[in-house]
Amino acid sequence: MTMKDIKIELTTYKKEKPASDKLGFGQFFTDHMLIIDYKNGKGWHDPRIIPYQPISLDPAAKVFHYGQTVFEGLKAYVTVDKRVLLFRPESNFKRLNASNERLCIPAINEEFALEGLKQLITVDREWIPTEPGTSLYIRPFIIATDPYLGVSSSRSFQFIIIMSPVGSYYKEGIKPVKILVEQNYVRAVAGGTGAAKTGGNYASSLKGQEIASEDGYSQTLWLDGVEKRYVEEVGSMNIFFKMNGTVVTPALNGSILPGITRDSMIQLLKSKNIPIEERRISIDEVIEAYHNGTLEEAFGTGTAAVISPIGELKWQEERIIINNGEIGEVTQMLYDTLTGIQNGSLEDPFSWTIKL
Ligand code: COI
Repeated sequence: MTMKDIKIELTTYKKEKPASDKLGFGQFFTDHMLIIDYKNGKGWHDPRIIPYQPISLDPAAKVFHYGQTVFEGLKAYVTVDKRVLLFRPESNFKRLNASNERLCIPAINEEFALEGLKQLITVDREWIPTEPGTSLYIRPFIIATDPYLGVSSSRSFQFIIIMSPVGSYYKEGIKPVKILVEQNYVRAVAGGTGAAKTGGNYASSLKGQEIASEDGYSQTLWLDGVEKRYVEEVGSMNIFFKMNGTVVTPALNGSILPGITRDSMIQLLKSKNIPIEERRISIDEVIEAYHNGTLEEAFGTGTAAVISPIGELKWQEERIIINNGEIGEVTQMLYDTLTGIQNGSLEDPFSWTIKL
């Protein structure tokens, strides 16, 4: 399969673009989508860019019953001088293949997927919003399409990319969010699928999210699935704390999603000579740091959420207010540097961005 094989069918009806203050997250979709099919014996084939539309699947398709599916999330930005930048797309396609491996889905050709994405963005380029704090969120995903109810890996799949102009993920924007530490349910266990980006992990997180929002909190902080003692991640973000001058984040342990923004923040902190540790962090350590006044900042990182300061954690009956509920200095610096690199207003010494 080469780039010449991608068929492009342009829409004759262009949708109206939403105003930038109405974007929110993932509610509007661009005019086109990319689809590539897979069949055993034939491999990935028939790549095409077509008008955005519903897809038709057999109700017995395995994705509906057994959740054989993976996805990614990445973003594109337009710079003030009208260049289009993608942030670390190779890392996303690499992670997609790692998720594929775990879910028994055939690997995609990462270079081809990136080329297909570039063509799709070129077709829908005018959908990339330009207001500060906005971007084009890109959602590649793969679904198992075999119409067969036996529990076994599918022999046919579809790889699809859809795109959505977005503002901030949380209604709070860059204002600190409040997070409830979940004590009963768990998101993932070592040896499970926690490190893969697959729908089931998010389905299993919904109960916690419902409990959190009933209590007035935006998200759930998940603890490990065995002892319910060690901090893992938040529903849509990895988590960092600044305690006693050192930034710490849970080490990747097989049940935590290896976030690309997480990795970028670790590299950025190292480049600024700010101490950063990846290690096990118990919730008791965080609570103790709060009580002795050394819990200085907390923030979450993710493609959708970018960098989101955490102003409050609720653990059991105690409300842990962090930095008076305000964004901390290191969090602000990371936010400014990351978004500046992403939107091209700052130098990119890490070569993270790719120009279209
Ligand atoms: C992302 O940050 O891209 C995510 O996938 C998180 C979430 C919206 C599911």
